[in-house]
Amino acid sequence: MIQLPLLNGRSMPALGLGTWDLRGSACASAVKRALGLGYRHIDTAEMYGNEEEIARGIAQSGLPRRDLFLTTKVWTSHHRAKDFIAAAEASLKRLKTDYVDLLLIHWPNSAVPLEETLGALCQTAKDGKALGIGVSNFSAELLGQSLSIADVPVVCDQVPYSLPENQDPLLALAGKEKIVVCAYTPLGRGSFLSHPELMETGRKHGKTPAQVALRWLVQQEGVAAIPKAASEKHLKENLEIFDFSLDPADLKRLSRLSG
Ligand SMILES: NC(=O)c1ccc[n+]([C@@H]2O[C@H](COP(=O)([O-])OP(=O)(O)OC[C@H]3O[C@@H](n4cnc5c(N)ncnc54)[C@H](OP(=O)(O)O)[C@@H]3O)[C@@H](O)[C@H]2O)c1
Repeated sequence: MIQLPLLNGRSMPALGLGTWDLRGSACASAVKRALGLGYRHIDTAEMYGNEEEIARGIAQSGLPRRDLFLTTKVWTSHHRAKDFIAAAEASLKRLKTDYVDLLLIHWPNSAVPLEETLGALCQTAKDGKALGIGVSNFSAELLGQSLSIADVPVVCDQVPYSLPENQDPLLALAGKEKIVVCAYTPLGRGSFLSHPELMETGRKHGKTPAQVALRWLVQQEGVAAIPKAASEKHLKENLEIFDFSLDPADLKRLSRLSG
């Protein structure tokens, strides 16, 4: 597994498990199964309503907390400083942990000054409740503003990113500032996996279209991906993307998918 260096001196496994829409015992078993297969990076959010089940899956895996990279996110209804800190603490309680590896502002919220929300986010890091902090769904412009406000390194922007979903302006800034871009909905929820160029590239490498789509992401410097999968088959498949690479001809072929 590739480890991406973060600006706080820590690192993030380049492939993580997305958990949006995983609920109840299905969530706990997917987390336990994923950890058993070798995943060490789990992505959740207070909005997903599954933090307790994530904690259950982690407990059932028997893995020590220090071996895991756990991300959660604070929702837009908690952007006022007091609400933000309380929401982060509630997440920690549900996740049964004293800290998360990454705490993100889930979405921008123009109704609350960015300075106030970022101040609270930075405070969670200073208090040791978040080892790393970041943002999600922030454009290059908003990320740039955040960098000039935050007094703790912003290490990640989590955004929708996949072969058909262009993020060039954000990637340019993130690359320059050494901020990791974490790609969510990296498989487009299955919407583009039957594209002929993806199937042809998969056949060439003995890989599935999903594996090619994920490889295309993690092969880029400073890019992580968090596909959601529930079945053992998909969980395993998505992890097996570090034993091949896409060559310039593949990248040219795949560029036909990008908008
Ligand atoms: N920050 C944000 O605002 C935000 C927004 C959206 C998502 N996210 C995060 O990103 C994660 C991933 O995004 P997503 O859930 O929207 O979509 P996704 O990961 O692009 O797609 C998930 C879908 O793809 C299927 N799948 C997984 N592996 C596959 C494979 N190898 N072959 C074929 N199909 C496969 C899954 O099926 P099975 O489940 O049946 O295996 C599921 O239906 C979320 O779970 C969440 O953690 C963050």
